[in-house]
Amino acid sequence: MRHVLIVHYSQTGQLDRLAESVCAPLQDCSDIQVDFLQLQPQQPYPFPWPFLEFFRIFPETVLMRPQPLKPLAVDAGKRYDLIILAYQVWFLSPSQPMTAFLASPEAAQLLKDTPVVTLIGCRNMWLMAQEKVKTKLSQLGARLVDNIALTDACGTAASFLSTPLWMFTGRQKPYSWVPRAGIDEAEIVAARRFGEAIRQRLTADHLPIEQPMLKGLGAVKVDEKLIASEKVGNRSFQLWSRLLVAIGPRRSRRRAAGLVVYIVFLLCLIVTVVPVTALLKKLLAPLTKARVQREKAYFAGPSGE
Ligand SMILES: Cc1cc2nc3c(=O)[nH]c(=O)nc-3n(C[C@H](O)[C@H](O)[C@H](O)COP(=O)(O)O)c2cc1C
Repeated sequence: MRHVLIVHYSQTGQLDRLAESVCAPLQDCSDIQVDFLQLQPQQPYPFPWPFLEFFRIFPETVLMRPQPLKPLAVDAGKRYDLIILAYQVWFLSPSQPMTAFLASPEAAQLLKDTPVVTLIGCRNMWLMAQEKVKTKLSQLGARLVDNIALTDACGTAASFLSTPLWMFTGRQKPYSWVPRAGIDEAEIVAARRFGEAIRQRLTADHLPIEQPMLKGLGAVKVDEKLIASEKVGNRSFQLWSRLLVAIGPRRSRRRAAGLVVYIVFLLCLIVTVVPVTALLKKLLAPLTKARVQREKAYFAGPSGE
């Protein structure tokens, strides 16, 4: 009998549906036992998000200092053949519940010497978050064997507006003039193919999983146009987070005032620097092509595009 653990958290239910789609073929198999561990923050995060509350969690999310979770309903001493970590991205970082899990003593026990598949459902900027998860996993002695990342269907420009509107109104298409936010439901259903490949590998023999199982299945798609933006964005997020934490505690007025300044700065950045760097990148593309291709291959690993 093979044992698989799925660690998950979702505010809107989107990532849970994705995890269910991937796990269905495993659950259908009598030789595989699937356990689910739902992460529950002690203080639930609001959904829809009040505007300022959304940004209030920004510094601690980026600095990976999460709010605590309720006690984890898991037998940390159990050895799993595979652990699937389903997480969403918050501010180019893993969401706070997943960060809290990765910092827990249970995760240290569960993940040591264990193969891991990460399963990401987000707007479309997941590269830096995955780098942070990779670092944590390697510190915990886990082995990342595959990564699946599904992103919002409406594209980069439109989702700059549609995803925040979804977060602030609770509706995926609050107005007729905005495209629907979120991952395409057909893509969520089609994610079953990953579960089928994992089932095939798990039932082929009883050897530990050492190699990727999802090569050639389109588990990720790296948008090369976003690599530089994510790196620059992440550096700026780190600086601002440290500054905001230094200004005052989470609920203080000083922190709120600092956040307002930051939000204005961020909006100015989006409407000025983002288009200018996009243009620059286009102009410099012939010179940077080889490096971008190398980076693309790196970020696509271990499953590949
Ligand atoms: C506070 C917050 C910050 C977010 N930041 C990002 C981000 O940096 N990159 C991204 O691709 N998506 C981002 N998203 C979108 C989420 O990754 C995800 O698509 C959405 O919250 C739905 O996830 P759910 O499964 O929890 O409902 C953010 C969402 C929230 C709530």
